[in-house]
Amino acid sequence: MNERRIAHFSDTHVLAIRGARARQFLSKRWTGAVNLALARSRHYRVEIFEQLLCALAEAAPDHTLCTGDLVNLALEPEFERVHALIDEVFPRETLTLVPGNHDYYAKDAVADGLFERHFAPWQPHDAGQDDAAYPVCRVTDELFVVGLSTAIPTPVFMATGQVGPDQLERLEAAFRRPEAKHRFRVLMLHHPLLPEPARPMDSMRRLMDAEALIARLWKLGERGPQLVVHGHNHEFKRMQLPGTPVPIVQVASASRSGKAHRAEFNIYVVRDQQLAAIERHIHDPETGRFVRCDELGQPL
Ligand SMILES: [Fe+2]
Repeated sequence: MNERRIAHFSDTHVLAIRGARARQFLSKRWTGAVNLALARSRHYRVEIFEQLLCALAEAAPDHTLCTGDLVNLALEPEFERVHALIDEVFPRETLTLVPGNHDYYAKDAVADGLFERHFAPWQPHDAGQDDAAYPVCRVTDELFVVGLSTAIPTPVFMATGQVGPDQLERLEAAFRRPEAKHRFRVLMLHHPLLPEPARPMDSMRRLMDAEALIARLWKLGERGPQLVVHGHNHEFKRMQLPGTPVPIVQVASASRSGKAHRAEFNIYVVRDQQLAAIERHIHDPETGRFVRCDELGQPL
């Protein structure tokens, strides 16, 4: 296998309230949600996301993965805005995306299928599965990507996720397909597999059936993913699937501003069916450009 470069971004949290239907703001849950979203929007900037999209276009990776939380309150104007932004940069065969908890923030958005309606071009089912169901599956000349949905509607202030038994079955079936065998296999999802008990409110943010997912990956063994990527916690972190050499990588937010937390995207360099290096591309607020860095954040 020649060298392949896979880009990964997540958690853009685009907020767009103007034009949303009034009834969406009538219930009590929305008061808290809107206040939270407005406070959050000061730290998550669409212009930084636009700069990231320019940087990604320049980097010209072989494929790009997006692990959700593209929007903030799951309002139609938010989905329209993000669709317009990514549609300019990504032909359908170049990007694969799955939803995060914010993309499913409201029950009516889920019932209306807003996320899937706006992003269907980037949610392929290349391995012949049921078109309406997750996981999505991308097969390219050298890559086999399975994308789970962990998004479920939750009460305000909760950000938990769930895979569910049906997806676990389909995940296993996907990785056992013949197309998966000689390609570099990637699993993508929004929520982290591993809990972070030291993190404030971790129990309100975690993937509730992470243990069942990990058990399924153990069961797959050699047939399972060679790289797992996710977002959700807005900081870069490299981990390992317990008891295996399989790397798990969490990417930082793609739109976050401020000195302590900068926007980032990752590029995974794959050689000989292995993750050979991770490049972090970190936003420089002075120039608006993304600086290519090593895993420790040092410029290359
Ligand atoms: Fe999230």
